[in-house]
Amino acid sequence: MRSADSGDLWWKNAVFYCADIETFYDWNGDGTGDIRGMTDRLEYLNDLGVTCLWLMPFYPTARKDDGYDITDFYGVDPRLGTLGDFVELVRTAKSKGIRVIVDFVMNHTSDAHPWFKSARRSKDDPYRDHYVWSATEPKSSPKDVVFPDQEDSNWELDRKTGEWYLHHFYKHQPDLNIENPKVQEEISRTLGFWLELGVSGFRVDAVPFLFAKDAVPGQIDVFDPFQYLGDIRNFITRRLGDAVLLGEVNVPYKEQKKFFGGADGDGLNMQFDFIGMQQIYLSMARGDARPIAKALRQRPTLDPTSQWANFIRNHDELTLDKLSDTERQEVFDAFGPDPDMQLYGRGLRRRLPPMLGGDERRMKMAYSLAFSLPGTPVLFYGEEIGMAENPEIPGRLAVRSPMQWTGGTNGGFSSAVKRRLTRPLPDGLYGPERVNAADQRRDHGSFWWFMRNLIYTYREQPEIGWSTVEILKQPNRAVLAHVCREESGWSMIALHNFGAEGCIVALELDAVAPGSVLVDLLDGRTEIELDKSGRVELDLGPYGYRWLRVLGPEEEPII
Ligand code: GLC
Repeated sequence: MRSADSGDLWWKNAVFYCADIETFYDWNGDGTGDIRGMTDRLEYLNDLGVTCLWLMPFYPTARKDDGYDITDFYGVDPRLGTLGDFVELVRTAKSKGIRVIVDFVMNHTSDAHPWFKSARRSKDDPYRDHYVWSATEPKSSPKDVVFPDQEDSNWELDRKTGEWYLHHFYKHQPDLNIENPKVQEEISRTLGFWLELGVSGFRVDAVPFLFAKDAVPGQIDVFDPFQYLGDIRNFITRRLGDAVLLGEVNVPYKEQKKFFGGADGDGLNMQFDFIGMQQIYLSMARGDARPIAKALRQRPTLDPTSQWANFIRNHDELTLDKLSDTERQEVFDAFGPDPDMQLYGRGLRRRLPPMLGGDERRMKMAYSLAFSLPGTPVLFYGEEIGMAENPEIPGRLAVRSPMQWTGGTNGGFSSAVKRRLTRPLPDGLYGPERVNAADQRRDHGSFWWFMRNLIYTYREQPEIGWSTVEILKQPNRAVLAHVCREESGWSMIALHNFGAEGCIVALELDAVAPGSVLVDLLDGRTEIELDKSGRVELDLGPYGYRWLRVLGPEEEPII
């Protein structure tokens, strides 16, 4: 076994796939996707090459934030199935070599959760301190608010008891008080419960909010959130040695470091690279690779057990909150000029293909880049077939329309009558008649096959996940040339062209051993020779991309 492919730190070179049970596949024909439907489609994911399935919330919910407003941490939304179905799903996935992680939302509960209902009965209620209360109205500035279209403060007055409760998200999602040992106990119990049912870890929702210290006026606070994050990590590792915590931490790189923990990595194992993702969009909008090159130079180097999660799109708005106002406007102008495509003044409620006018060259370049960077790629369902959003669905949910399986009725998602569908599918150019998994799997030139090939190429180079990145100098501004290197001596050069013009990229690879060749991993494994001093000229098409494994003179040929 190659050293980089060890199973303990499986997340270092996994392929994650995020899916929402509700919109994936409706097995019983009632219009809503279900756990049995998800189980039924595991073989599809297996064929695609996915090795870890991340399930969005499937717990009992008040249904005001697509399941992120939970009313019971220990159950399954009855519309989706039962705990028994869930265990079958995890068990079946495992038998196919697919791990399952689940969304862990414990920053807040729904206001319909029995704890909150009890807590708001009186100030002495036993559940009162499960939440964060203030006797006077705390200051809250509009810039603290996550959903400015609906909220103007992070605090809401509870009329009956005359105190304000904290809610970083909607007012129907009161924040839990994680300083309270009883809440901490519930957090451990919940994590332990799902681990016992077979999951391999958690995607931790809204981490900076979960671990934020919010000044309640008049309270002295000695709680150390990072120590508590370490406690959580220790707890889950005691229960399951190789469990993963993948955190949603959209903060600047420098601040991200502390969420990974100290030198011994006692925090999150993985974090999404929100900064890199936003810079990729800026680079695409400008046709200029320098923004992403700059971000990659600033990206912190991680300790060996930690990992970046690379992604192009997720289930939320495409957030551009870490760009400057003018940069964000550039991306808006390029990829979402219509105000209806924009959200909260910071993001776009679109998927990638329509943003790029359906130009497959650009779509492929973006995914090739995400897979070629040190880290672990995360796909959002439907990306593998180039699905678009359904703009008719309000807000962020536009990108969460049902999976398009076939060109038939309801895109093969459900046999229910259309009006009973949990969410409508898009019509027209990106509707299921034109974009669906069944047709693409039959056509080896399709986007699905491009993605499958990319996934397997990534999996065959497990060193990518363990590598560090360096940007190579070359004169073309539209091109990102980077090299990934791994301890064993393995290295791979990748080229990505953000521009519409083809070009020749001249590289000087003086660190490469004489007699090495470059093997084109994505294009027929052709071999390219370097001259004696390590110089090489490489063709790159418009929006082209290449992965070139450096094969030393002593190395076995790539099979
Ligand atoms: C995270 C989720 C988002 C959800 C929010 C509140 O940001 O990604 O979809 O609304 O947390 O739970």
